[in-house]
Amino acid sequence: MSSGNCIGICTMRPCCRILLGYGYRSSSVFGSQGPKLNDSVADNLLKLQSSRRFSSCNGQIVGYIRAVDPNRKGFNASDSDWGHQPRVYTSGVSRGTSVGNSSKRGVLMIPKVASDFRNHSTSVESQVNGKSFENIYIQGGLNMKPLVIERIETVHGDVVEEQESRVEVNGSNVNVNIGDSKGLNDSKVERELSEIEKEAWRLLQDSVVDYCGNPVGTLAAIDPADKSPLNYDQVFIRDFVPSALAFLLNGEAEIVKNFLLHTLQLQSWEKTVDCYSPGQGLMPASFKVRTAPLDGSDGAFEEVLDPDFGESAIGRVAPVDSGLWWIILLRAYGKLTGDCSLQERVDVQTGIRLILNLCLTDGFDMFPTLLVTDGSCMIDRRMGIHGHPLEIQALFYSALRCSREMLIVNDVTKNLVAAVNNRLSALSFHIREYYWADMKKINEIYRYKTEEYSTDAINKFNIYPDQIPSWLVDWIPDEGGYLIGNLQPAHMDFRFFTLGNLWSIVSSLGTQKQNEGILNLIETKWDDLVAQMPLKICYPALEYEEWRIITGGDPKNTPWSYHNGGSWPTLLWQFTLACIKMGRIELAEKAVALAEKRLSVDQWPEYYDTKTGKFIGKQSRLHQTWTIAGYLTSKMLLENPKKASLLFWEEDYELLETCVCALNKTGRKKCSRRSQIQV
Ligand code: GLC
Repeated sequence: MSSGNCIGICTMRPCCRILLGYGYRSSSVFGSQGPKLNDSVADNLLKLQSSRRFSSCNGQIVGYIRAVDPNRKGFNASDSDWGHQPRVYTSGVSRGTSVGNSSKRGVLMIPKVASDFRNHSTSVESQVNGKSFENIYIQGGLNMKPLVIERIETVHGDVVEEQESRVEVNGSNVNVNIGDSKGLNDSKVERELSEIEKEAWRLLQDSVVDYCGNPVGTLAAIDPADKSPLNYDQVFIRDFVPSALAFLLNGEAEIVKNFLLHTLQLQSWEKTVDCYSPGQGLMPASFKVRTAPLDGSDGAFEEVLDPDFGESAIGRVAPVDSGLWWIILLRAYGKLTGDCSLQERVDVQTGIRLILNLCLTDGFDMFPTLLVTDGSCMIDRRMGIHGHPLEIQALFYSALRCSREMLIVNDVTKNLVAAVNNRLSALSFHIREYYWADMKKINEIYRYKTEEYSTDAINKFNIYPDQIPSWLVDWIPDEGGYLIGNLQPAHMDFRFFTLGNLWSIVSSLGTQKQNEGILNLIETKWDDLVAQMPLKICYPALEYEEWRIITGGDPKNTPWSYHNGGSWPTLLWQFTLACIKMGRIELAEKAVALAEKRLSVDQWPEYYDTKTGKFIGKQSRLHQTWTIAGYLTSKMLLENPKKASLLFWEEDYELLETCVCALNKTGRKKCSRRSQIQV
């Protein structure tokens, strides 16, 4: 354990400077804000002592902070003049995203994470036996460059050790630890690509966005004919996931690592919506790389990362799924590269904890499912999915499973880990028990007694049988079933939502039998759920009065269009993954072949309309990146099922045990969960 509390802070790229100790504005550390920062912590930070190194554009490490004595619980303040001087940045600036004057040569560029009132938050957690720091939040308002805290937490026995690691900066790459990345290149595409695949790769590469000369994400769409891209010229967290997987499966890890670290820097933004800040730990829905003139500097430009937490988004929707996707991608990065050092870093561990804290915070809710507002996920418009929509629950469950694997257990995290385990088992019980719908279950609901008052009620949510929609009566097959879209008091949303069902399979949120049942249903109902283009985002569409009331009369979400029963090719990769997991490769191949027939010809649309997915979506973007990346990822997953298996989970029997124990402890009820949930 070298230099136990040594925090190496460097920028992502040599050209990105750190302004810690310089340029603070409304810093919550040195200023007045900072809800999590108590006096002693502030004091510690004021004692921050740093030794630092700088490098030029081609150099190695820009900044470095060293805490002198782990037992002193203190840092000494830096008198650094880090990052004062803009440097000449001569390489290309972000493709297609620059605003204003973005000439590519001889422009002074300082990249930074946008705007001056950002609240940078990094926590250095205490070590076991309390000898080291308590939680120390460095909360910024820092006019700050992307920071990378390069300390790795590892556990040997009971003792948490910290090792320094280095992001290798050579030439234009920020490399992953090569030693650990064995296997990554095994999956490099070696066979001759088809013309469609070549086109897809070209378009995917074109969508790559650079920040400080490094790739950090992909734009949502580059529709050549689109005069008003709205926010499709941004990097969306959820949209980037299939891009990231395509890159990882192709042996390209750098962009994914950069993305994960830069979005981490954007976490906990203090931008407000009507004087209210989103909770600490929130990840943005999207971000944009902008170039803007540098204050007080003649002709100099800076690059900024400008995130959107929903404050600009249409409908001001909260991106609940972003943090969940970030965690899922972080794990996928570790699995596919073999490089776990990223997830072990202090800043990354802190990022995971902040997201989890936000999700696991106690509220007024009665259920283990996550309570959210409408439009908080892929369906980011009003579609009647407020409350406990399946998509969020499935992603939540997946993110908890990822976190369980990645969180380093020590005195600081042990309660969090216990909370994660408890939530996992309660959540899977709840979903398996109450969201499942098949012939048998619908028949039960059909005969439900209502107004039952007791803890033993059968119809716990007081569902009136009249709620069973007429379409369902005809639609539900004898074999198979699915997880319903949402569950609230006196309300079951019986619509089939594809993403939630697929992720329930992938993460083993459903039982083995339920997971098989979902794929059986998709197969039986192929003409409804796939038809001419995989896959329907939900089924069926809201029509007539229901459409008017539930969507608010949304002209983009008219029946069988967009989120309201449109077909989204990006769902193909998740379908492929679920099929591979369940040994139903032929189903995935059939879907990929269907998509392949049209995607390139139709210019890779965002979505398709009509009951059968016959037409390109009314307002669909063309050259939509997650359509392109989803297709490529599907192809590569099918070619490499071994790699695919790193991206899904089998049943975790330990969690089932937790479930049984938790129930027994309450003493209120004889436990019967195990038999129920293993069905
Ligand atoms: C639409 C989709 C959303 C996606 C975004 C960018 O808003 O509903 O899921 O992230 O476009 O493609």
